[in-house]
Amino acid sequence: MERRTIGAGALATGAVGLGCMPMSWGYSGSRQRGDESLRAVHRALDLGCTLLDTADMYGPFTNELLVGRVLKERRAEAFVSTKVGLLVGEQHIVANGRPGYVRRACDASLRRLQTDVIDLYQLHRADPEVPVEETWGAMADLVQAGKVRALGLCAVGARGARRSGGRLYDGTIRQLRRVQQVFPVSAVEAELSVWSPEALDTLLPWCAARGVGFLAAMPLGNGFLTGTLTPGEGFEPDDMRARHPRFTAEMMAANQPIIAGLRRVAARHGDAVTAAQVALSWVLSQGPHVIPIPGAKRERWVTENAGATEIRLTPEDLAEVAGLPGARGSWD
Ligand SMILES: NC(=O)c1ccc[n+]([C@@H]2O[C@H](COP(=O)([O-])OP(=O)(O)OC[C@H]3O[C@@H](n4cnc5c(N)ncnc54)[C@H](OP(=O)(O)O)[C@@H]3O)[C@@H](O)[C@H]2O)c1
Repeated sequence: MERRTIGAGALATGAVGLGCMPMSWGYSGSRQRGDESLRAVHRALDLGCTLLDTADMYGPFTNELLVGRVLKERRAEAFVSTKVGLLVGEQHIVANGRPGYVRRACDASLRRLQTDVIDLYQLHRADPEVPVEETWGAMADLVQAGKVRALGLCAVGARGARRSGGRLYDGTIRQLRRVQQVFPVSAVEAELSVWSPEALDTLLPWCAARGVGFLAAMPLGNGFLTGTLTPGEGFEPDDMRARHPRFTAEMMAANQPIIAGLRRVAARHGDAVTAAQVALSWVLSQGPHVIPIPGAKRERWVTENAGATEIRLTPEDLAEVAGLPGARGSWD
């Protein structure tokens, strides 16, 4: 598989990574597919999808434990990205950016991941009670201690930004400027997909200008852009799409022209090419510093998603995707 590098330290990973979250968190059936998930992670490494993206919050903790079972056997083949800063409370998810907590959380992640170093340690969310420089300073100390190779920052997505009344990613860029004063940012993780292209306006160029890698989260639109979901099929209460405004039956039906467009482009590249592969290829074409991390807990999807690196979208394809209608259904 094509390799891409992120950050000034030129850390190399496969061009397509693997988002491990759906194996333990956020999607219905997450907890029932342990063995299948393990096979999916192994398959990803077999295919050169070396970047495994997890977080202590996913599960909580069980996602790191699962990834750790693979790392125990194949550490040298993987690039592991995990996150700190969000805790699952009884009622809500809360931020904790206190330096002492960050140090303890890192040691706990290392134990669960069965490794002595994390390749990319990301701040999941800044704690409003703690200056972000303090949290980032504690994370930088972990690099000095050899427990972490590089630091990353996760952006607050559409829901959080709209709630706080800001323009999408303005707040993230302000945070990035502040933490860069303390220690270099190697990667930013934020949503980027055909139906959520907002990062292209300011965040992606900010990263490109500074050699900062961009991990594209939710590159398949939480599964919608694969065209395998049926409007009105419904989601279990533990599936985050049950509360997502784009996943009502009405909005899923209204957004079908986006799938139709992806399929038209796919057809130009061969009978076996899928809408999911075109969606990922579009993300890959946004810059050499961009690494999509599609979430998948099935080997079949991992194999299909890795195949996106073999598709080269033409200017005509990119123009067709750019001309697709904007997604209906927002958090406003
Ligand atoms: N930093 C953050 O705040 C943040 C937020 C959200 C996500 N993330 C990261 O980004 C990663 C990706 O996001 P995501 O997993 O939420 O969304 P996604 O990658 O857009 O979509 C994942 C969904 O697509 C399905 N899928 C994957 N490949 C498919 C294919 N080829 N054909 C049909 N269906 C396919 C998966 O199904 P199965 O589950 O059945 O395999 C899963 O339901 C996460 O795993 C996580 O690591 C980060």
